[in-house]
Amino acid sequence: MDFQALLDGIDAELRPQLGREGRVATYIPALARVPTAQFGIALRTCAGEEAAAGDSAVPFSIQSVSKLFTLTLAMRLLGDALWERINREPSGNPFNSLLQLESEQGVARNPFINAGAIAVGDRLLTALGADAKAGLLRMMSGLAGEAIDFDAEVAASEAATGYRNVALGNFMKSFGKIDNDVAAVLDFYFHQCALRMSCRQLAKAAGYLCRDGAHPSGGAGPVVSESQARRLNALMLTCGTYDAAGEFAYRIGLPCKSGVGGGIVAVVPDRLTLCVWSPAVDDSGNSVLGTRALELFASRSGLSIF
Ligand code: DON
Repeated sequence: MDFQALLDGIDAELRPQLGREGRVATYIPALARVPTAQFGIALRTCAGEEAAAGDSAVPFSIQSVSKLFTLTLAMRLLGDALWERINREPSGNPFNSLLQLESEQGVARNPFINAGAIAVGDRLLTALGADAKAGLLRMMSGLAGEAIDFDAEVAASEAATGYRNVALGNFMKSFGKIDNDVAAVLDFYFHQCALRMSCRQLAKAAGYLCRDGAHPSGGAGPVVSESQARRLNALMLTCGTYDAAGEFAYRIGLPCKSGVGGGIVAVVPDRLTLCVWSPAVDDSGNSVLGTRALELFASRSGLSIF
């Protein structure tokens, strides 16, 4: 398959639609300033072949795409013990909802909604202590094969305005489901969301998800086991795009993880990983043009898990 021609075609078709639909996430002031007229797409096959088009080398705030990587780290470090306080069911609710936490006694529905990701962060802080943020950066840099860093301005912007996340953290703590100081857990969470990466870097970094857990660089040891990689993909398909997960499965049919910065990582198991980015998002927090690009990719390539 000529992947470069495929991505060039998608870029050419979507570029005229830039800035027409959706809007940037204004509830995080630093994200509200990102120009909407940007679109990037990049893929990397299991064999290491790469293709990219548009603004694929422009770094952006990966936001909730980071939840995929913190979950990966937590599964590596904790194994099944991770699931004592986090469930694995789609929530059918917005990513920052407090609703189900009340009736479900502070146990988050899944690791990809904000509550679940904050709970994962708590477990990572317990496991890694003061080294947690540096440990995450080391893992991301190793996966991407180049230095990855946090955007300090985005992290500070979110810390100053993240009232809902503060509420989620405190609410779970009130049920005894958070071990560490809530402020420390949120500091870790705001930093993971503020990781700055490009489509190309993300397509490479997520490579273990299409390679049964093997490291994208080949030489290094496995990132996760084969069964953990399968389970990460299952969680992406069922929970990775929040209350739009059913619609994503229907329209695209690939495991996906989105972020409110406009990035979406998708996996074609045993074939490739793909990342799209365009900053304007819909009501569920998923990139409008990114979703459309994935739909075009799946229909034109015939690559889907169904
Ligand atoms: O906590 C938040 O609300 C953001 N830092 C992340 C949310 C997000 O990316 C949702 N995804 N589409």
